[in-house]
Parts: sequence; C-alpha cells; structure tokens
Amino acid sequence: MKAAVVYCSQTGSTKTYADWMAEELSCTPEPLDRIEAVATDAELVVFASWFHAASIKGAKRFQAYMAKHPEKRYAVIAVGATPMPCDLWPASEHEEAFRRSFPADSYPDLPWVYCRGGFHFERLGVMDKIAMRIYFKMLEDEIARGNEREKISLAGMHEGFDGCNRSYLEPLLEQLGCGDNRRLS
Ligand SMILES: Cc1cc2nc3c(=O)[nH]c(=O)nc-3n(C[C@H](O)[C@H](O)[C@H](O)COP(=O)(O)O)c2cc1C
Repeated sequence: MKAAVVYCSQTGSTKTYADWMAEELSCTPEPLDRIEAVATDAELVVFASWFHAASIKGAKRFQAYMAKHPEKRYAVIAVGATPMPCDLWPASEHEEAFRRSFPADSYPDLPWVYCRGGFHFERLGVMDKIAMRIYFKMLEDEIARGNEREKISLAGMHEGFDGCNRSYLEPLLEQLGCGDNRRLS
C-alpha cells in the first residue's frame, strides 16, 4: 500500500516522529503544506502534528483534505509535552484533548496515537515564548497551592527535554496492520 506522511513541527519533535513513521511506511515525510502534491497517489495518509494550547496545529487543513478525498485511509500522530498516560496523566485526558480537534462524532474510526514530544523554549517563535511565559506564571501559582502535576510540568519545561521514543508509535502501527511483521494489511 502506498503511504504518505505529512507533518507540522516547530521545534523538531513531531518531525522526529514523522521521520520514524515514514521509515516504517517507506516514504518521505513532507510538511503539511505539501499534502496536495505528496498524497495524490497515497492510499494511506498519516498526519503528525503537535498540541498547541490543547488543539492540534494544522488539523483544519488536514480535515479539509480528508473531506475532499474520502476514498483514502487516514491516521494521526498527536505530539505533546504532556507525559505518556500514567496515574497522574490518565489516557482519558489525552483522548479528551485529541477529541477537541477530531471530535468522535465526526471522526469515529480515525486511527490515532499520542506520542510525547519534547520542550525546547529557545526554539519557539516570539508569540509562543510570550504565551509560555504566561503559562509558566500560571503553573507557579498552582504550585504555590500545592499542585503536584504542575510542579513536575514546570520543572520539565524549565530544563527542556526530549521525550521522543520510537516505541510510542507501536499502537498506531498495530492499528494500521503494520505491527511486528511491519507489513500493511
Ligand atoms: C504555546 C504552546 C502551547 C502548548 N500546548 C500544549 C498542550 O496543550 N498540550 C501538550 O501536551 N503540549 C503542549 N505544548 C507542547 C508542545 O506540543 C510540545 O513541545 C511538542 O513536542 C512540540 O512539537 P514540535 O517540537 O514538533 O514543535 C505547547 C507548546 C507551546 C509552545
């Protein structure tokens, strides 16, 4: 099956996942802007993008393409700074955030996966730096109220981190039928 991988990435984490996914699917990842050109012959189109204030960058553009080409298969890799599902960050929160951009009633069968990216303050654009400074201040207020999650989040973002891990793509590869044997069904 011919596949295409398109992505949005500001600081490089999502591009890392797009590179890994494209390797799995034997194609070359391209920026979302090039979707019309690179997805023409693809039967499967994978969109990798990052959470920006709880919505997924470029989702509207990708959805417009999906609507124009209902004959293709699609999948989404959603990248964020939030840790992978665990006691403090249950999977339901990732699902809720994803569903703000891809509501279940409109996209009930869309395969997707959450992958933790990274945080690199110095690589952010000016507006995002301002937004993050405001967000850091909000986190500090929460920490002063004894909130443990905010403490962990702020520490990670102050230091910066790369949380990318290729294994986080496994659930999506399995959903697409290219799990262990790496063959699309
Ligand atoms: C302004 C801004 C808002 C963000 N909002 C969220 C968010 O709502 N949830 C989340 O998990 N990560 C959020 N992040 C973190 C990014 O999704 C994360 O750093 C991601 O790895 C960036 O991908 P990139 O390296 O491909 O640009 C935000 C980052 C910025 C700069």
